[in-house]
Parts: sequence; C-alpha cells; structure tokens
Amino acid sequence: MTPVLLDCDPGHDDAVAMIYAAHHMNLVGVTTVFGNQSIDLVTNNALGLRQLMQRDFPVAKGAGKPLVGERIEAGVVHGKTGLDGAELPTPDRGAEDMHAVELILRTARAHRGELVLAATGALTNVALALSVEPKLREWLRGITIMGGSTGSGNVTQCAEFNIYADPEAADAVLMAGVETWLVGLDVTRRVGVGAADIARLRQGGRLARTMGDLLDFFLQSLKRVQGIDTASLHDPCALVPFIDPSLMEYRHTGVRVELAGGLTRGMTVAELRRLGNVPLGYMRPSPPANVHLAREPSPRLLPHIVQAMLDFDATLT
Ligand code: RIB
Ligand code: CA
Repeated sequence: MTPVLLDCDPGHDDAVAMIYAAHHMNLVGVTTVFGNQSIDLVTNNALGLRQLMQRDFPVAKGAGKPLVGERIEAGVVHGKTGLDGAELPTPDRGAEDMHAVELILRTARAHRGELVLAATGALTNVALALSVEPKLREWLRGITIMGGSTGSGNVTQCAEFNIYADPEAADAVLMAGVETWLVGLDVTRRVGVGAADIARLRQGGRLARTMGDLLDFFLQSLKRVQGIDTASLHDPCALVPFIDPSLMEYRHTGVRVELAGGLTRGMTVAELRRLGNVPLGYMRPSPPANVHLAREPSPRLLPHIVQAMLDFDATLT
C-alpha cells in the first residue's frame, strides 16, 4: 500500500482522515500543526487517536504559529480540547523527540519516490520542510491538501481555514513544483455525515462508537455555528486520489493564494475559465497549471469513509 505521512491539526475531521489513511494506505507517520487548537492540544489528540487505533506510527509535534502573523484557532467548532465529544484512551507513549519537519524529511528520505505527504491543517510544516531540504521535491510521490475553496470560505467570505491560517506557507507549497492535489470546501461541504451515519457508527465497535460520539459533537457545533445539518468530512477527502480515484473528479489547473488583500487575504484563486487557443484581447492568460483540483465527489465517497471507520474495529484487539 502507498506510504503516507499525515500533517494535521486534529480536529474531528482530521481524526477521520487518520483512520481512513491507516485503513486504506500505509500510514507511516503523523505530524501536527497549530490550527483547530493549539499545537500542544492537537498533538495530545493525535497521540490519543493513535492509542485508540492501536497503531505505532511516530507522531512528531510541529509549528505552533504561522510563518507570518499570529495563529488562529477553531475552538468554537472543535471544542476546548480541539477534539471534544469523547474520551480518548491515555497514550502509552509520547511524541517523538524531534520536530515535525525532521520527521517529514526522514520519512520522505526513507520512502524515496513513494511517500505521499497529506496536509489537512495549516501548511506551515510542509513549507518549512521544503525550504530546509529542497531535495524533498524529488523524494515525494506527491502532496495532497485539504484547503481553499472555489466558492465561499469559512474563516472569511472567501478564505478557508487551512489556507487563511498561513497563506504564505500555502502559496509556497502550491508553487513548489511537487505534483499536488487540492480539495476545497466547495467539494468537501458535500461530503458530510448526518444523524443516520452517526447512529450507524454508534452501533459499531469501540473505535466506531468513539467516532460516532466525536462526530455528533462536531455536527452539533456546525449546526450551532454555521447553521448546517451535516458534519463535513473535509480532511479524508484529501486522501481519495491514493485510495480510490474513482471517488472524485479532478481538473488540472492553476491555483494561487492571495497574500495581500484586505478582504481577500488567504483566498485560493483558481483558474476555472476554459480559454480557447486564440488571442485573448482584454482577458488575462491562465497561470501555469500547478494542481489537480477536486471538482466533483462521487456519491459513493461518504459511505466509503463511514465504512472504513466501521471496519477498522476488526483490526483491533
Ligand atoms: O476548513 C476546514 C479545515 O480546517 C479542516 O482541515 C478542519 O480540520 C480545519 O483544520
Ligand atoms: Ca484539519
């Protein structure tokens, strides 16, 4: 199975991504970054989830704030721990004695040409790793990101949380020249669990029941804060290209991040026009295509993710 390292900020949907990656891929490491909560809290959550999953991949703590400016956090949605809604088992071991960037580089070197780097939080660790070791570009099979939106944002009218949390890092990663997949809110908001899915999970084994409780908290938070009636599974959508590409449609196109702008800082600006090969006149040309941009989720995707959480218990003692 394809080796993947998940850089994340658990975070309810990051927790689903960890399970989805471990179930369908070779999850060889987890690194944490500030975002849904502080770096210490999201790292504790990653350790508790590893214990729940009965896995032994390394976890390394990463950046506690963005490259530029101050950190934001999403406690209003994910709760004061960053993963409210259920008790996680006490970890029997802590994080590695190295920074997340070091774990990313060591893992990519060890799985040269094969490692997929999945990013479901701010892109600070990924940008730092690419800056510290330019060879990382050749060592990686690809980078797959949950971030941005070609529609409305969630932090601002037009900026999505993971990109807005560190726009400079996001732009550096998108421009790094590594084959990159990007799934934004315009797609992930259409992949959400509802009350029936949560009830199914609560009929499952210990891990599935825990995920049912966590996702019920997440659903109630999103209802209260954003008035929506499904809990969007944003982060596992980033793993789809390496689990089952038939579950998502992509378009290879150009995406840049707005770094200036008052109203538009952190916006992902995607080329969705289909310009003909004719003189453009007043129109500006398309930027170089740098990402496989997710456009359409299959209706099979959500049940596929829920089934992974139900089936995961069969691997536990
Ligand atoms: O905007 C959604 C993203 O922000 C998800 O990754 C969620 O976990 C939060 O990090
Ligand atoms: Ca996340």
